[in-house]
Amino acid sequence: MTDPSPRRLRSQDWFDNPDHADMTALYLERFMNYGTTPEELRSGRPIIGIAQSGSDLNPCNRHHLDLAKRVRDGIRDAGGIAIEFPSHPLFENCKRPTAALDRNLAYLGLVELLYGYPFDGVVLTTGCDKTTPSAIMAAATVDLPAIVLSGGPMLDGWHEGRLVGSGTVIWQSRRKFAAGEITRDEFLQTALDSAPSIGHCNTMGTASTMNAIAEALGMSLTGCAAIPAAYRERGQIAYRTGLRAVELVHEDLRPSQILTRAAFLNAIRVNSAIGGSTNAQPHLMAMARHAGAELHPEDWQTHGYDVPLLANVQPAGAYLGERFHRAGGVPAVMWELLQAGALDGTCPTVTGKTIADNLAGREATDREVIRPYEKPMMQRAGFMVLRGNLFDFAIMKTSVISDEFRARYLSEPGREGVFEGTAFVFDGSTDYHARINDPALEIDERSILVIRGAGPLGWPGSAEVVNMQPPDRLIQRGITSLPTIGDGRQSGTADSPSILNASPESAAGGGLAWLRTGDRIRIDLNAGRCDMLVDEDEIAARTQEGLPPVPASATPWQEMYRATVTQLVDGATIEGADKFVRISSTLPRH
Ligand code: FES
Ligand code: MG
Repeated sequence: MTDPSPRRLRSQDWFDNPDHADMTALYLERFMNYGTTPEELRSGRPIIGIAQSGSDLNPCNRHHLDLAKRVRDGIRDAGGIAIEFPSHPLFENCKRPTAALDRNLAYLGLVELLYGYPFDGVVLTTGCDKTTPSAIMAAATVDLPAIVLSGGPMLDGWHEGRLVGSGTVIWQSRRKFAAGEITRDEFLQTALDSAPSIGHCNTMGTASTMNAIAEALGMSLTGCAAIPAAYRERGQIAYRTGLRAVELVHEDLRPSQILTRAAFLNAIRVNSAIGGSTNAQPHLMAMARHAGAELHPEDWQTHGYDVPLLANVQPAGAYLGERFHRAGGVPAVMWELLQAGALDGTCPTVTGKTIADNLAGREATDREVIRPYEKPMMQRAGFMVLRGNLFDFAIMKTSVISDEFRARYLSEPGREGVFEGTAFVFDGSTDYHARINDPALEIDERSILVIRGAGPLGWPGSAEVVNMQPPDRLIQRGITSLPTIGDGRQSGTADSPSILNASPESAAGGGLAWLRTGDRIRIDLNAGRCDMLVDEDEIAARTQEGLPPVPASATPWQEMYRATVTQLVDGATIEGADKFVRISSTLPRH
């Protein structure tokens, strides 16, 4: 048996506590049910949790059930003992009214498990969108040695000789279907072809983004995020992650040493360079808040906006996860940023080395997919932060602004970057779907589509609905996108330059609540503003009519969530939960 840890470990308070022989007996006995021996649990070897996010209910992460075997091998070979347990499933595509509602629930659940059970460290298995932030949020609160094992993306999807990427192909097909170019069956088949194997979304959607961010933060082994789920390297990195988890306990290297402001700013820059999801904004804020790290909403503009787009991956680019991995993946993108002085290389990571050390020799091998910093896909590709009388905060993903969109809306001679249009306001997506094709609603190419009631309180949970499609008749004329604004989110796989995550949301009394169809809106990207051109007196009069209605809570958790959730600008965290930091510095009572 491997040598015990030189330190007294947290788990020994359960399994080897001379002051509480009775409790120790109780803690030990039932683990024998699956053949574990008292000698193992009392050996002073680190007990490593494997927070298992895979199940039949989370297909994107399901292969973690197999990968966990390699994690266990690694843990065992390094002298630790693995205890695997389920975390709350978070399946992005299927959970109604939105998986976002459950991110904080998964966070709460994992905090209780990591704090209340005899763990010395944990492997966080991640993949589908919110499985990554919820796990890191919990690890930050508890502050046990923790390491992220991503599940990796699916293999590249192909349909009739053309790459079809998760989610992105849905948005494209939706437009083709509206234009009458494809049938319902072709729509379905293209979507199915985009999912050829185990793994999470193969585009740079929220899943790939959040796992890249976990790596950029220093929470996973170098190169982990981009390895496709089905590649042999995935099993190999699972093994190495297990090994490293045990070493982290011996080194007492904790999330609080890694999740610093500098690490979060690195993550913001990486997000710009990969063309990452707008969902990174609330998730990064949530992780920072639970880590007790300083992060400001404007940091996206100040530190992220000027960073160029380097990764040629859908939805901002052309390729998918496999090709991105073979080109060098996240380390190759970070290598570019580091050489350009756009990354803090001194940040510590779970490898035990700094970012700069980890990136040595990681230059890209395919310049079609990962561009040099000086020859990017696009300059200034980060999120623009906007404010005005419609909201105090919203973001716009500039890397997906198409040339056509820029020409139509943002290139009026003498007024570049400024657009004025007429608002068409929808209260939630049911209203949108019911009315968007109503000919009486005279939406044209000078219109701005607005959706409200889609934020954390309104939905509840905040929904990915802001990337609203124009009416079919406009699409048939070649107008495939209109400017859109909303207090909800949009899928990370969407190619729409929406103004979204607006905070405060309509249901919290934000300016969107007082907007009416027919009002004029001015978007001024130079000034970072978005305003309704309505008199203050008129706005004040409208507030007398009260907030637009939102659906009642349908479950106990929805009600509890609404009573505690913060706005998207603040990460949609649980109000007050961020006062609990590093809670594993004290032991729970018996
Ligand atoms: Fe799970 Fe995209 S739906 S990763
Ligand atoms: Mg999503």
